[in-house]
Amino acid sequence: MTTDFRTPELDALAKAIIPAEHFKFSAETARDRFFNDTRMLDVKQRVHNHYRTNPQSMIDHMIANLGLTGSEDLLDLGCGNGFILEHLRPHLADGSITGLDIAPAVLEAARERMHGTATPCTWIEGSADDLSMLGDDTFDRVMANYMIHYVPDLDRCFTEVRRVMRPGGVFQLTTDRPDSMLEMYQVHFAALTAMGAPEDLFKATPKGRLSLDNGTDVLGKYFEEVGKVAWQDQLRFTDPEPFMHFYQVGHNHCCASSTPDDRLDADFFTELRNRVRAQVVAVIEKNGYFAVTKYTGSFLCQ
Ligand SMILES: C[S@@+](CC[C@H](N)C(=O)[O-])C[C@H]1O[C@@H](n2cnc3c(N)ncnc32)[C@H](O)[C@@H]1O
Repeated sequence: MTTDFRTPELDALAKAIIPAEHFKFSAETARDRFFNDTRMLDVKQRVHNHYRTNPQSMIDHMIANLGLTGSEDLLDLGCGNGFILEHLRPHLADGSITGLDIAPAVLEAARERMHGTATPCTWIEGSADDLSMLGDDTFDRVMANYMIHYVPDLDRCFTEVRRVMRPGGVFQLTTDRPDSMLEMYQVHFAALTAMGAPEDLFKATPKGRLSLDNGTDVLGKYFEEVGKVAWQDQLRFTDPEPFMHFYQVGHNHCCASSTPDDRLDADFFTELRNRVRAQVVAVIEKNGYFAVTKYTGSFLCQ
């Protein structure tokens, strides 16, 4: 089984359909809209894991990158509902975990998920660009997985990570390439085009703010060494419904329904979904499955 899903056709498609401009989100939007419950995270985590074709999961990759010996003190910025921490915890049997998140609902879910485990856990509600409650040289590992695009002040965030990390520590920042999941954007943009939708909806993933493509330069200003570990996966759906759930709930219709917008009513989104579903069904009928190719990875900073 290959885990290199790139083809010349996919590369050409990426160039043709992924816009340079990306959506921009605030920490408040994350706290008050996306993560005021765990639904969005639950859908994404289940679908990414259930429909993947890379035998090594996203979490396996992240844990391997950290090179844990078992006794490290780890800080997870934007820890969400603790899904990653639950898998990582046995690798820190003699260490400690501190999870920080701006959204109380998901932080509470993380606390519940980890309750009763032997690794000491501390939960902090706050923004990743203000770590003033944490001392200098406190952590051996710091992670920021799929969350940095929400952080208001990146300069302060990376300066703070540097301060709280012990010498010899590792900061892992996981994000996507802007063209990750391009097949989802392809059917989405095709549907928007057919509907004559407003121009400003044609934007790339918000992760474009600090992506696998531009992150080395940004992080190089704060850390002496910046390595990159990239991996790919391909989600394959033989039934359109789980994909539609992923598209609608997990990705807010590729961000088209992420902010309140008077121009876009319920009928707009019903038609959008119907048009997207019809394309997905046609691909499944032709190829046997609908593929969503992921280009993702981590920066490892020291
Ligand atoms: C896509 S989720 C990723 C969760 C987890 N790291 C994972 O990969 O499963 C993004 C998380 O970042 C959190 N978040 C957003 N803005 C934040 C900020 N400024 N500081 C800390 N956490 C933030 C959200 O509440 C959410 O839990």
